[in-house]
Order: sequence, then C-alpha cells, then structure tokens
Amino acid sequence: SEVPAKDHFNRRLHDLRISVTDRCNFRCVYCMPKSIFDKDYQFLPHKDLLSFEEIEQVAREFVALGVEKIRLTGGEPLLRKNIEILIEQLARLRTPGGKPVEITLTTNGTLLRKKSKILKEAGLNRVTVSLDAIDDAVFKAMNDVDFSVNEVLDGIEAAHEAGLGPIKVNMVVKGGMNDGQVLPMAKHFKGTPHILRFIEYMDVGSSNGWKMDEVVPSARIINMISQQVSQLQMLDANYTGEVAERWKYSDGTGEIGVISSVTQAFCKDCTRIRLSTEGKLYTCLFASKGHDLKPLIRSNALPEAIGEQLNHAIRNLWSVRADRYSEIRTENTTQPKDRIEMSYIGG
Ligand code: GTP
Ligand code: 5AD
Ligand code: SF4
Ligand code: SF4
Repeated sequence: SEVPAKDHFNRRLHDLRISVTDRCNFRCVYCMPKSIFDKDYQFLPHKDLLSFEEIEQVAREFVALGVEKIRLTGGEPLLRKNIEILIEQLARLRTPGGKPVEITLTTNGTLLRKKSKILKEAGLNRVTVSLDAIDDAVFKAMNDVDFSVNEVLDGIEAAHEAGLGPIKVNMVVKGGMNDGQVLPMAKHFKGTPHILRFIEYMDVGSSNGWKMDEVVPSARIINMISQQVSQLQMLDANYTGEVAERWKYSDGTGEIGVISSVTQAFCKDCTRIRLSTEGKLYTCLFASKGHDLKPLIRSNALPEAIGEQLNHAIRNLWSVRADRYSEIRTENTTQPKDRIEMSYIGG
C-alpha cells in the first residue's frame, strides 16, 4: 500500500509529536492555570504511561508510514526520567528511503543546563525553548512558579553550546499580560543565532478561559517590530506546512517568526499527529477524543503482529481524518469542557 499515508484532504502524515509526560514544573497561565492544576490535580499514574519500548514500537510504524520528523513534548518532556534513552532509540529509526528521522524537543528550558550535552549525544537534533518574557516580573507572572528569566537564558546558551541549535524560542503573546514584552524580546534576541517566534494565543484545552480579544494578531507584531526595532523582510518557508511565517532583519542581524494559528489558520497543510503519554492518538490539537492504541500495544499477540495491527490502525485513522478546526473557529467559539489540554498533548 501507498507510502506516505494521506488523509481525507490529501494531507500527508509527516510529523509525529509524542507527549512523554503530562507534568510540568511551570504553571503558565495560558496552559496549566494553578486554579485547576493544583495539588489535588490527578496526573496520569505511572502504570498508564507508555514505556520507552512501547513508544518506540509505535514510532517505528509511523516512520514506516511516512513520518520524517518526531517532536518530543510534555508537559515538560525533560521531567521524564532518562528521556535520553528514548531519544537514542528514536534516533536509530530509518525512513523507508533509509534516512534518519529528525528528532526535536520542545522544553521550558529549565533543565537544559543539566541535560543538553547528554541529549545531543543521544541523537537529539534541535530544541525549541518556550520563553514568554525577558522581564523577570512579567515572566514570573506568566510561569506562576517564580522562575527567573536568567535560568532559561542560561539553558538556551547551554543548548546552543551543545550543538542543539539553531534554537527556536517560542513566545505565546497574551494580550494584557505580556504583549508589552514583544519589543524587549525582539531587541534581546536580535543579533543572536536564536530564532524568536511569536505565537498567537489559542483556545486549546478547556481551562485557560481564552477570549478572542486577548489574541494579538501577528500582523500587528510584524508592524510593531519593523517600525520600532528594525526593518523586516519576509522569507520563504523552509518546507511546505511550516507553521511559522519567517522574517529576517534587513540589516542581517537575524531571523524571527510568527505563528498565526488564529488569524491565518494553517490547517490546509497540517501534517501533524499527536500521541499522548498514555498512548492515545489525536489527529488535531483541538480534538476531544483520541484513538486509544494501548489495547493493541498491550495485547498478548506477537510483536510482529502488533506492529502490523498498529500500522493498520494508524493508516485507517489518518485516511478518514478531516480536521480543520482553526479554519472554522470564530469569534463566538466557546471551549467545550472535554477538550484535551495542551499540557496533556504538547505544543
Ligand atoms: P519546527 O519548524 O520544526 O521548528 O517546528 P514547528 O514550527 O512546528 O514548531 P513548534 O512545534 O514549536 O510549534 C510552535 C507552536 O505552533 C506550538 O506551540 C503551537 O502553539 C503552534 N502549533 C504547532 N502545531 C500546531 C497545529 O497543528 N495546530 C495549531 N493550531 N497550532 C499549532
Ligand atoms: N496558545 C498557543 N500556544 C500555546 N502553548 C501552550 N499553550 C498555548 C496556547 N494556549 C505553546 C507554548 C509552548 C508549547 C509547549 O505550547 O508556547 O511553546
Ligand atoms: Fe509547562 Fe509549557 Fe504548559 Fe508552560 S506552556 S505550563 S512550560 S507545558
Ligand atoms: Fe492541524 Fe487541527 Fe491545528 Fe488545524 S487546528 S493546524 S487541523 S492541529
């Protein structure tokens, strides 16, 4: 049968995002608000998490079906014990054409000083670091656990030194919270090798209380920066389906990006699928129901038979996929109660 797999709208299956833990050491207001993710919050019990062997087994079938890029996410993926062992296993996978798979990781950066070298040695290609402000007070108000900017900046430097660059820095812009940090962040990263990307605040999950008027449109950000920091020129996408629109400073001092999932949805080229920590597949970030692979993974069939069944299940699921949530979202959209959280499924 045909590789790569294609969905209902002829989109191929290209990126797999694997959440390795639903826990995080931050409580970002737009992602894990303290009011809900408090000391009584029930995170997944350890027995429900897929083991590294189980994750690798699923990833192997995805690669057979056309996946060329794997992103590890969380929660905070570096909180998962011995994550480098999983990276080593994934780095050994080969596409049907014989190429290695690109392995990336999205992190809040707090453990990068400690782990960058070992991650690089395990075969990780790149990291993306979330950082929502350069001012300590604003950053602390965003992460809500009193974590300071300097430690994250130090983590970014450690990752850069270890060869995990070019590093992308993701800033979610929430109007009224950190929109005043757009220019200071741009100024800070201008002239560095790191690529700062501004992300429109989205209505993911059901607990962040999203309102359309808190979204700062990317067009406004590009205007602000080009008028108040330095002139910008648009760049071509690195690949089809790239979510960030790329811009460079005309004076040659670096690149920035904007991710406009609200004002300019990119579902048309969405080639991403997400695997939760407990083995459920989601074909859209805004889904409520996942497709549970665990009964298959933990059945007592032989490994080859399980592999074949996983392959079929994934192919079938992808072939009927018709998700295009961001294209049909409106001003009046409300968040259903059962929608999966970003901390559960990853960025
Ligand atoms: P690279 O190009 O490999 O660096 O990765 P990427 O651009 O896909 O970046 P990343 O995974 O860091 O995604 C950045 C942000 O874009 C995420 O944190 C989300 O906010 C948003 N995003 C990524 N994928 C999707 C998606 O499929 N749908 C929507 N609506 N938003 C997405
Ligand atoms: N809107 C946009 N991006 C979000 N992220 C988390 N929650 C949201 C949201 N509501 C992004 C963060 C981080 C990644 C893990 O997910 O920027 O980079
Ligand atoms: Fe943790 Fe990232 Fe969510 Fe912040 S955005 S709470 S760092 S998972
Ligand atoms: Fe893909 Fe769903 Fe995001 Fe659209 S909203 S880009 S279909 S994950």
